[in-house]
Amino acid sequence: MCGIVGYVGGQAALDVVVEGLRRLEYRGYDSAGVAIVADGGVQVAKKAGKIANLDKLLSADPMPRTGTGIGHTRWATHGAPNDANAHPHRSANGRVALVHNGIIENYVALRTELEAAGIAMTSETDTEVVAHLVGQQVEKGLGLTEALRAVCNRLEGAFTLVAVDSATPDIVAAARRNSPLVVGIGEGENFVASDVAAFIEHTRQAVELGQDQVVEIRPDGVSVVTFDGNEAEVRPYHVDWDLSAAEKGGFDWFMRKEIYEQPRAVADTLLGRYDSDGALTLDEIRISEAELRQIDKIVVIACGTSFYAGLVAKYAIEHWTRIPCEVELASEFRYRDPIVGPTTLVVTISQSGETADTLMAIRHAREQKARVLAICNTNGSTIPRESDAVIYTHAGPEVGVASTKGFLTQLVACYLLGLYLAQVRGTKYGDEIATIMHELEQMPALIQQVLDGIQPVLDLASEFADEPSVLFLGRHVGYPVALEGALKLKELAYIHAEGFAAGELKHGPIALIDHQLPVFVVVPPQGRDMLHDKVISNIQEVRARGAKTVILVEEGDEEVTPYADVLIRLPRVSTLLQPLVATVPLQVFACELATRKGHDVDQPRNLAKSVTVE
Ligand code: F6R
Repeated sequence: MCGIVGYVGGQAALDVVVEGLRRLEYRGYDSAGVAIVADGGVQVAKKAGKIANLDKLLSADPMPRTGTGIGHTRWATHGAPNDANAHPHRSANGRVALVHNGIIENYVALRTELEAAGIAMTSETDTEVVAHLVGQQVEKGLGLTEALRAVCNRLEGAFTLVAVDSATPDIVAAARRNSPLVVGIGEGENFVASDVAAFIEHTRQAVELGQDQVVEIRPDGVSVVTFDGNEAEVRPYHVDWDLSAAEKGGFDWFMRKEIYEQPRAVADTLLGRYDSDGALTLDEIRISEAELRQIDKIVVIACGTSFYAGLVAKYAIEHWTRIPCEVELASEFRYRDPIVGPTTLVVTISQSGETADTLMAIRHAREQKARVLAICNTNGSTIPRESDAVIYTHAGPEVGVASTKGFLTQLVACYLLGLYLAQVRGTKYGDEIATIMHELEQMPALIQQVLDGIQPVLDLASEFADEPSVLFLGRHVGYPVALEGALKLKELAYIHAEGFAAGELKHGPIALIDHQLPVFVVVPPQGRDMLHDKVISNIQEVRARGAKTVILVEEGDEEVTPYADVLIRLPRVSTLLQPLVATVPLQVFACELATRKGHDVDQPRNLAKSVTVE
């Protein structure tokens, strides 16, 4: 949610910053802007809309390319997405330009104070007040970094701030609280950004910033202090993916590329988790086995697609470990005074590791002394840093706003966690775990098989392109798959879509069934799942009322054939693992349908990849 870049060094800063913004555009695309410090001043160019609009502005009205630069791509919170509200914002004295990701909660009071001092606001944003405050501090004689630190101590809320001052052209100062910021370490050049994707082309050496820290980058070095002014300890790390992973590689959309990367992402997430003695090893679980044996309740907390991964986790964890497991929307969790304590394991699932709702929920859980384990795809992000333990999903960067490989690898991590807990607590024997692990290891090939046979799904997308509404049904783990299929269609194709537990349909939603309404149904494995026959009955119920049925069913199951308008075949797998194969056609369906409707699949309207506001 908002992407930020800052650069100092010998390259053309404008090009480095704009390229960095392009790689961060998934974080927000309401406006884009840059500021360059050159020739004794700060020049700003900014424009509402996507970066393409900024490109046009820069061609029509060029600005210096060399110097020191900052840039921003916006997901609007305060103020409409127009040119005036676009970042960077400037201080009243014209010296400082500043960009911001997050929300300054006390901005109204600060704005009133500034207006009383005679400063006229030029935008509706909360950010502009920070630019003016930093401007006042540098005017009083503080260096830029000190000025930013002083101002941060007056701010409430969540923020990453990056600023330049025309009086110190070789410095970019940045600060973070509850919002992401990484530093890229180059040779004679340094970077700050919301995400390493912005500078991966230039360096893979990064430094993770902690909470409430201010960093100063210069061409020859980097220094970090806390908001209290003490020198801060930082953790350098090497980014283990490269530029090609962040580029489209011949696909029309990042999302489609990421769907096709799923076999690899699932294999990478399984890699190294299972040793030669047949035991699961999850190195990043820094909670002792003795503590895990004390756990009497698991609460999974997440948002959106990650929440649906949590719903699948519940079935697997309870089945394998017999520990009660609740799943809760992160945005609801802390506001209902939840009952958690030292024997509760809170599992958070977050692809980005920055989702504010989830972050606030884990902070609440930790205050109640619960142990927190994060399942996350982003090394160094805030949620794993604030958790007692982490299982990283090795999906690689997910750029498409709609999560795909993030989801499948979250499922894998949930299965691994469930099996690990079962191993530690002795609720499953080694040979049972080995059987499930063996099946998990088959999954990359089976997902690939689904992708190889995807043509009927692509054809279906053209047939359904004008449908106003689509329903998705499933039971047991098929229910979260149905929810995910509906969410993908809503967010990408802007079609009304609902996911239902198939057994619940008769309690109300069946009234929606109308002539030719498309209804997708996920059928559990035949002969190995007691719900199989019940789902077939549910299909008959909707078919009898005129629905057009699209049935996702395993190969060889012909029982359903008479009630299917369209059959989408899935590989034969066990019930609990079926979401790994059943979700894939629904992802492809939504991606293709949105493409046919002419939508921007990677950047759907109103959304952002990383939602860092509550
Ligand atoms: C939907 C989607 C979102 C995210 C949600 C949580 O395709 O991607 O629903 O799953 O915003 O994000 P993370 O996992 O980053 O916490």
